[in-house]
Amino acid sequence: MTDLLAKLAYQTVQYTKSSFALTHKTLSSRLLNLFYDVPGKDQLKPLSPELLETLQTSLARLLETEWKDAERGIYPVELLFDNPWEDFLSYYPALLLDLPRLRERSLQQNYRDFAEDLDTDNYPNYYRRNFHFQTDGYFSDLSANLYDLQVEILFNGCADAMRRRVLAPLKQGLEAGFPSVPARDLRILDIACGTGRTLKFLRATIPQANLFGVDLSTAYLRKAAQLLGQLPGELPQLVGGKVEELPYRGGYFHAATSVFLFHELPGTVRQRAIEECFRVIKPGGWFVICDSIQLGDVPEWDSLLHNFPISFHEPYYNDYIRDDLERRLHRAGFGEVYTQMHHASKYWVARKPQIEA
Ligand SMILES: C[S@@+](CC[C@H](N)C(=O)[O-])C[C@H]1O[C@@H](n2cnc3c(N)ncnc32)[C@H](O)[C@@H]1O
Repeated sequence: MTDLLAKLAYQTVQYTKSSFALTHKTLSSRLLNLFYDVPGKDQLKPLSPELLETLQTSLARLLETEWKDAERGIYPVELLFDNPWEDFLSYYPALLLDLPRLRERSLQQNYRDFAEDLDTDNYPNYYRRNFHFQTDGYFSDLSANLYDLQVEILFNGCADAMRRRVLAPLKQGLEAGFPSVPARDLRILDIACGTGRTLKFLRATIPQANLFGVDLSTAYLRKAAQLLGQLPGELPQLVGGKVEELPYRGGYFHAATSVFLFHELPGTVRQRAIEECFRVIKPGGWFVICDSIQLGDVPEWDSLLHNFPISFHEPYYNDYIRDDLERRLHRAGFGEVYTQMHHASKYWVARKPQIEA
């Protein structure tokens, strides 16, 4: 009975978040459309009426999978109730106030708009831009404070649910691959860890493991340190650095994860990031990638994938949705690779071959 009530509570929270996000998007775009033109309207593909229905079915499936994984002990049930409500209350007004600036940037296709006091010079060109037309790109505390909310709204309240889908293959892979290594000796790296949501979920799933996060944004790492500093246990080690030049020695990690990164990298950097992960993972270790679904994965949703980079500044997305990451993983040296799909995300689970005896 308690389990049933908990499941109902979880579903209610998730559907409420989803309705809120949809209402937010509908009302805010109607309001903005009164004052501004619709960006790229001639290029947008119409969305079919069945689309909403298939999105609902797919969301229900995602929630069911999440729940089943909690039931079988992959992570504690409480993790499914981990929502950053405080951030929501603190930053939702700022997010609303920021919307006209995003629309202005989008209309002018202005993706190099940074506050003067932000130092963006020492960053790669592909990174120095306002991804999603968001204020300050990845360069300011304001951006870091609004980011999680923006992503939850973009994904209709299930961004965290999709992040958590890396946990089952990772935990099972580690148990199968390193059965004699105690959890306290495991080392797991989250590349492009952003504000630390995935590291938080990893901490709850394998509490004793040593966690590491690397990201190019000092503002996002600061936000991650705030979030992760509230958790019991050791603080994950957070480091500023590039995923294509990881600041770790070879074979150091039992596993690495990457969430929502690859669609924001040019193809050549994507390849180098995969090669770097291959280098820093031990033989027999795992690499789990989560990112957007790609063209043809859910054919009814292809129009959504087409429209996304028109409304948001995502310069590498069109290339990403046609990219064969499985081939890239094999090219880097990974052996077994399998894929999964959960709602709007796709997952690549790759294993570095064991060294032959
Ligand atoms: C869309 S966010 C995803 C963040 C986080 N993984 C999540 O689940 O929300 C992309 C992140 O990748 C980081 N990033 C982009 N390019 C990078 C690079 N070359 N090296 C390190 N971090 C990078 C950005 O700073 C940002 O935090």
